[in-house]
Amino acid sequence: MHSCDTKEMIYLFVNEKGGVGKSTLATALAVYLHDSGRRVAVLDTDKQLHTARAVTQAEPNITVVSEFDARKIPAVVKELANEFEDVVADAPAKLEDEARALMVMADIAVFPTEPTIKCLRSTKTSINVLEYARKLTGGKPHSAWLVLNKAKKRTRIYQEVEQLAPKLGLSVAKTAVRDLQAFPEADQQGTVVTRMIASTSSIEKATQDIQNLFAELIEREYPQVVHYG
Ligand SMILES: Nc1ncnc2c1ncn2[C@@H]1O[C@H](COP(=O)(O)OP(=O)(O)OP(=O)(O)O)[C@@H](O)[C@H]1O
Ligand SMILES: [Mg+2]
Repeated sequence: MHSCDTKEMIYLFVNEKGGVGKSTLATALAVYLHDSGRRVAVLDTDKQLHTARAVTQAEPNITVVSEFDARKIPAVVKELANEFEDVVADAPAKLEDEARALMVMADIAVFPTEPTIKCLRSTKTSINVLEYARKLTGGKPHSAWLVLNKAKKRTRIYQEVEQLAPKLGLSVAKTAVRDLQAFPEADQQGTVVTRMIASTSSIEKATQDIQNLFAELIEREYPQVVHYG
């Protein structure tokens, strides 16, 4: 694995399934990177602006930009990547031109997925956009992660996901983010779980999951083996 200290990183949270945690995880990552001393910008291309609002509330010092015009997205991403060390982008649930425009620019694509068959199926559709981008760019985004979010008890679905993911050109994050009240709670309080006082086991677990997940995602920026055809 080579060091990527000098190159800016563009992260994209994408899944055409709604409510799987794109905004929650994008917000958590932006604040996490900021708190690790990185210069971070957030690009929200979802008209709901959940991520933009959540990041601004949690950390007003993070630059937040919104752009809904797919034709303008590449230029905006380039500009942000020139100015900042990390760009965290959130795609709308509807997988249209915005998601494609973002995917061809991204270094690391994150597909949050709930561990259900139904959710996994709709994630497969989102993966077409990944394949499209990799063909067009000759391999970008280099890293594509399937992240199980709102995870409950470990069931058979996990094995299925772990077997399926490599065939889809995805790595499965070892850390599954558990279904925890601390996440909506943090959002309501205008913050993120890693910044809450660990006064409940839910906050403690949520913080643990987020820290483990991001350690994994950021460390393994370029997986050795990428399967896609
Ligand atoms: N691990 C989790 N445990 C419990 N609740 C969660 C978890 N992750 C996200 N949530 C909650 O689920 C809801 C949907 O999450 P979020 O808005 O991040 O999804 P999304 O994929 O961005 O949705 P959309 O497609 O509408 O943009 C929010 O209320 C959020 O607080
Ligand atoms: Mg969202």
